[in-house]
Amino acid sequence: MTSLVFASGKGGVGKSTITLNLSLLLAQAGKKVVIVDADVQMANIGLMIGVDKTPISLNNVLREENVITEAVYEGPAGMKYVPASISAESDNLNYSVLKKAVKRLEEIYDYVLIDCPPGLGPDALAAITSAKEMVLVITPEPISLADALKVQILAEKNNVKINGFVLNMVLGEKNEIKPRELETILKLKNLGVLPEDLEVRRASALQKPVVLSAPSSNFARALRSLATQITGEQMQAPTEKRGFLAGIVGFFKNLFGKK
Ligand SMILES: Nc1ncnc2c1ncn2[C@@H]1O[C@H](COP(=O)(O)OP(=O)(O)OP(=O)(O)O)[C@@H](O)[C@H]1O
Ligand SMILES: [Mg+2]
Repeated sequence: MTSLVFASGKGGVGKSTITLNLSLLLAQAGKKVVIVDADVQMANIGLMIGVDKTPISLNNVLREENVITEAVYEGPAGMKYVPASISAESDNLNYSVLKKAVKRLEEIYDYVLIDCPPGLGPDALAAITSAKEMVLVITPEPISLADALKVQILAEKNNVKINGFVLNMVLGEKNEIKPRELETILKLKNLGVLPEDLEVRRASALQKPVVLSAPSSNFARALRSLATQITGEQMQAPTEKRGFLAGIVGFFKNLFGKK
């Protein structure tokens, strides 16, 4: 149906984290969703979910050895993904294949989410121009803004529609760049603010996406609002785990036949 690319220019601002966790929220909401890991030199998505046995990757597709539908694997919560090669084989890649491959996925899935590599190289350009719309991921610091501006210019030159920006890793400190300032400078819509959250790093270390391992975390909560803002889809609230005390109370209520 549609495709969205998450781009930033600067590395390490949270593109893969946002793409992966957003895909899971959409899958939980009953949508057919696939991620394309377009970071063909530094595969991210497979590592983030702890899977490395994916013999056919986007690299094979860009080498025209396989078609994209042969490179789709099943991830958590029923989401699907196209991995990049973990061995960083970047020879003979024909980036012009990507757009057509994404179009093919749009025919099958409700959402095709593309995880863009950092930088402004041919790999990033191919990812940006393969999607119907782009979301800029920014962290509240000047270098991230400077790089985001470069990607914005590149996208506009190539007639890519920019949906807006997401401000990630926000601590709420005085000297951070504020969403209002970004709206004025970039002339783009603020799609949402995501907090710096230790749960994200914990989840990443365990190779478990944070919306699954800590669905009540501040990051997961903020991402659910962001998901609704970007897609218009209603997200499922997390099922709260019954605490120890609630468990004991439930046990005695059952024992004495109380409602
Ligand atoms: N809101 C957040 N709070 C805390 N840690 C975060 C947050 N978002 C991302 N991270 C962490 O920051 C690191 C970089 O995130 P990620 O890999 O998603 O960035 P990226 O933009 O995809 O990087 P690259 O450009 O290298 O592909 C990871 O360790 C991730 O767990
Ligand atoms: Mg990444």
